[in-house]
Amino acid sequence: MPILSLTEAELRRRHSLKWRTYDPDILPLWVAEMDTAVHPAVREALLAAVDAGDTGYPSGRGYAEAFAALAHSRWGLDLDVAAQVRQTGDVMNGILAVLLATTQPGDAVVINPPIYPPFRQVVAGYGRRIVEVPLTQAGRLDLAGLATALADRPAAYLLCSPHNPNGTVHTAAELQAVATACVEAGTRLIVDEIHACLVDPGVRFTPVLAVAGGEHAVTVTSAGKAWNLAAFKAGLIIGGSATPDVLAALPPLALQAMGWMGAIVHTAAMTHAQDWVDQLDAEVAANKALLATLLGQSVPAARYSPAEGTYLAWVDCSDLGLADPATSFREQGRVAFSPGVNFGAEHSAWVRINLAASPELITEAVRRMAGVVNA
Ligand SMILES: Cc1ncc(COP(=O)(O)O)c(C=O)c1O
Repeated sequence: MPILSLTEAELRRRHSLKWRTYDPDILPLWVAEMDTAVHPAVREALLAAVDAGDTGYPSGRGYAEAFAALAHSRWGLDLDVAAQVRQTGDVMNGILAVLLATTQPGDAVVINPPIYPPFRQVVAGYGRRIVEVPLTQAGRLDLAGLATALADRPAAYLLCSPHNPNGTVHTAAELQAVATACVEAGTRLIVDEIHACLVDPGVRFTPVLAVAGGEHAVTVTSAGKAWNLAAFKAGLIIGGSATPDVLAALPPLALQAMGWMGAIVHTAAMTHAQDWVDQLDAEVAANKALLATLLGQSVPAARYSPAEGTYLAWVDCSDLGLADPATSFREQGRVAFSPGVNFGAEHSAWVRINLAASPELITEAVRRMAGVVNA
């Protein structure tokens, strides 16, 4: 039974952001929620906790240990849990905590547009200065551009790995180049690895802590994306072996922000549901191929090259003759994608399509796109 096989009627019963933001006749393929059911092991853990009235404060390091076991088995990364892993409320607040511990108001922080919008908010919203080093035309890290930016010794570099919105999986060589350059510049490398388990079958994800220079980096992650658990707040801050000072400087309340129910369900997912993510990754890869085929057939002017990571498709609609493609698709076509402009001013003619949906819904979404383009 495919994971991505829930029908629209089943999904419309949900009350979450994806399903309730737009009118009910608009097909939502926007915000990064997945059209998946809760994994049975996650459901069981949640119900067992509720049945036992186990709804108090978090205890222990079980979530950190579950992640360390996953990192070892999936990527061969060995972590000293007590020394290196801290539990926190969620990924973006974890990133904020690391930024507060490592930078001062007015400090420069590098980001790579087009980028997940909260990256700007967590930098500019807390009085830090954004330094943009855009991805290259091919959607990869611009190592020359980064070298130029790092020459000014910015306080931090906030990297998304794999990258949201375009799904690029950075290579070990790219990550090592970035990590070593940051060490030389005295720039703290902070890496959001929330999409790490979401890579196409056969593609190797490299945790930044595994490359030379990574011992000075700090990563932030959770089970929130790969198992669709955003409702349950829990996150992890993982310091490279040379970052005890950073972990010691984290704001104390950030280390008390994890919800116990979040820890319980994220732990269950990481411990019991890795096969499920592998199957999901295969289904998402098939959906990427499906989207490429469907666009080629019915919206050939749209440019889409499937990337290796995430369930997000980053589609260039510049040649469709639409002033604001995301708005036209939504208002005329009744299909909602994330507007490219949210990820970078240069990308107002792009859309981000969420492919964690059934092939039937993706097919219907492209049919609606084509209707707008051919109107
Ligand atoms: C790159 C990235 N980081 C963080 C998040 C959000 O994580 P959290 O809800 O744990 O803050 C998302 C959600 O889509 C994301 O794509």
